[in-house]
Amino acid sequence: MVSDIIDEIIESRLKKKSKIFMNKEILHPDYIPETLPHREKEIRKLAEILVVALKGERPSNVLIYGLTGTGKTAVAKYVTKRLAEKAPTLNARLLHAYVNTRKVDTTYRVIASIASSLGLRIPSTGIAISEVYRRYIKALENWGGLHIVVLDEIDYYVKREGDDLLYKLVRINEELEKARVAIIGITNDINFVENLDPRVRSSLGEEEIVFPPYDAEQLYDILKQRADKAFYPGVVSSRIISYCAALAAREHGDARRALDLLRVAGEIAEREGANVVTIEHVKKAQIELEEGRIYQAASTLPLHPKLVLKAIIELMKEKGTSTTGEVYNKYFKIALEYGIEPLTQRRISEIITQLDMIGLINAVVVSRGRHGKTKLIKINSELLDIIEGAIKL
Ligand SMILES: Nc1ncnc2c1ncn2[C@@H]1O[C@H](COP(=O)(O)OP(=O)(O)O)[C@@H](O)[C@H]1O
Ligand SMILES: [Mg+2]
Repeated sequence: MVSDIIDEIIESRLKKKSKIFMNKEILHPDYIPETLPHREKEIRKLAEILVVALKGERPSNVLIYGLTGTGKTAVAKYVTKRLAEKAPTLNARLLHAYVNTRKVDTTYRVIASIASSLGLRIPSTGIAISEVYRRYIKALENWGGLHIVVLDEIDYYVKREGDDLLYKLVRINEELEKARVAIIGITNDINFVENLDPRVRSSLGEEEIVFPPYDAEQLYDILKQRADKAFYPGVVSSRIISYCAALAAREHGDARRALDLLRVAGEIAEREGANVVTIEHVKKAQIELEEGRIYQAASTLPLHPKLVLKAIIELMKEKGTSTTGEVYNKYFKIALEYGIEPLTQRRISEIITQLDMIGLINAVVVSRGRHGKTKLIKINSELLDIIEGAIKL
């Protein structure tokens, strides 16, 4: 009886109060705490750059970079929000926009989103990009204040749409008489910064702030602060927090990763009806998160890498580990079965290297004496089903 199952779930999940979470929202990646431990220096630096906005002057554009989970988004949102809150008390005209250009993914939507923070309503389609831009400029001039625009994860945007908009925005002040715009660009990708058009980099990077990774002790403090508010007292011991911090510190000091571990461990504890979070729960959380990451990585691959994975999976089932040549032959056959033109063996070798780097397969180079070298390729048996499920063609 389906309705009984639903009743039971509603009863157990909604009516019964959680014994684990006091306020789970606090562990959500978008939640910004009141204070950001171990980012005082970065907050200070960004605030020093932007504070002149409260005198009506245009601050320098800022380029922020550092690995994922180092607090870039949190710091940028924190500082811009706090300054904008102060503005009215100082008679300053200051507004801020935040756009994640990985999620808001077209030039049209990026400008529309920036403009909407000035109260401008742009229809979701139907007008030209140049017209949206023109309306933004007009609204800026009518208002005459200082607009701080945070463009997050700009590498995604530029790789997709090119750097025209960025180039335009960093020079927008040349078109303005009364209003001013300051751009804060954020990226996780250091290569992106180095490959940026020098003109864009010099304008955007008038100031640059690099966010270093957190170490295990810093992650401990960050987790502790959140855990104290998110969990009921006594549910998460300091040993659990240290453990999550140590695991995340090994992954380049990613605070998001550390928070995810703690949140998922809590969810598992709750599902199991436990009263406290244990090391076992964290270990299970780590596996769950890793499986999620693998699934995500495999399911979003382009067609040919998926075909190569399919070939490796079939070979795993037939004989276990296989060589580059065997993978190529199998791939070739599968491609033809699907009516797809196979790529060259050289391209397939490159794809194998990439799949290895993403962590979807294991490839070890071995010498075959006078036959040269090959790779021995396999997929971790625990991940086989997940990957197979993720690449459904
Ligand atoms: N110093 C900090 N104190 C508290 N929470 C932090 C700190 N640094 C990062 N976080 C949290 O970790 C997660 C990832 O941070 P985020 O700013 O999104 O990283 P990035 O943008 O560099 O990838 C967010 O939930 C954020 O609130
Ligand atoms: Mg971010």
